[in-house]
Amino acid sequence: MIVALKIEKVREIVKKAKKKGKLIGFIPTMGALHEGHLSLVRRARKECDFVVVSIFVNPTQFGAGEDLHTYPRDFKKDKNLLKKEGVNLVFYPKVSTMYPKGFSTYVEEVSLSKYLCGKFRPGHFRGVCTVVAKLFNVVNPDIAYFGQKDFQQAQIIKRMVRDLNFPIKIRVLPIIREKDGLAMSSRNSYLSPYQRKVAPYLYKSLILAKELILKKRYSPSKIRKEVKKVIKENTPYAKIDYVEIVSPTTLRRIKKIDKGEILVALAVYLGKARLIDNILVRVR
Ligand code: PAJ
Repeated sequence: MIVALKIEKVREIVKKAKKKGKLIGFIPTMGALHEGHLSLVRRARKECDFVVVSIFVNPTQFGAGEDLHTYPRDFKKDKNLLKKEGVNLVFYPKVSTMYPKGFSTYVEEVSLSKYLCGKFRPGHFRGVCTVVAKLFNVVNPDIAYFGQKDFQQAQIIKRMVRDLNFPIKIRVLPIIREKDGLAMSSRNSYLSPYQRKVAPYLYKSLILAKELILKKRYSPSKIRKEVKKVIKENTPYAKIDYVEIVSPTTLRRIKKIDKGEILVALAVYLGKARLIDNILVRVR
């Protein structure tokens, strides 16, 4: 496994692999890797001949007062995990490599980014789109892998790829959870033992939402109320950013439960940790 810190090095190595006819799979990450990230790596290993993972805590997607400086970082551990998974190339750039002095060009998706997390984290998806577009340009993959954990992010990246004609296939893979249902996240390490104990109620509240949706007797606003009740009753001191019931394609609120796919998404602060989770429900 090669670790490259420089853009030119990545270009050179990928170019060689492509010359040999290899299909390039790519997983962008911010490190502090867990089974969620590794599930993407494993799928890439199955589908591609050459797997590239980037590890870069991207400053432009963090807002002022967010956790950029405390975000967990453990490159040695990440490197060992990726080596074991048979990754071919790790791109581990410095901030100054990705954002040289005078950097002044950004990529912004302006429709899907307005909803859900976009409302609470202004500029976040602009930072995500910018860094992912740059990483795509550096790595030049055939297929890129994202998690449904960040459903909105994956939708926005798909839109960006379509709108800006990146010749890249986007795969979105299921959420990997702990045994008790908590969606895996690098930010779970912020949770106190008590917060960690009650955190699975977020997923439980989504399961409740799914059940209520499938009954087809309740309005989205009633269901949102019930979900919030479960969270408030079981995770004292939690701060709910949102619980939304939306169309998975437009990310806009739906007014009533109809046939088709429905996304229930939430973002909740448990102490310092802003946790997000979601569930897709198919109504027949
Ligand atoms: P990060 O949070 O490190 O996540 C990297 C990828 O892993 C994302 O596609 C995310 O959806 C996926 N992932 C995280 N937790 C997961 C889980 N429990 N199950 C399945 N997949 C999971 O998302 C980012 O980094 C950044 O925004 C990035 C795209 C790298 C741009 O900086």
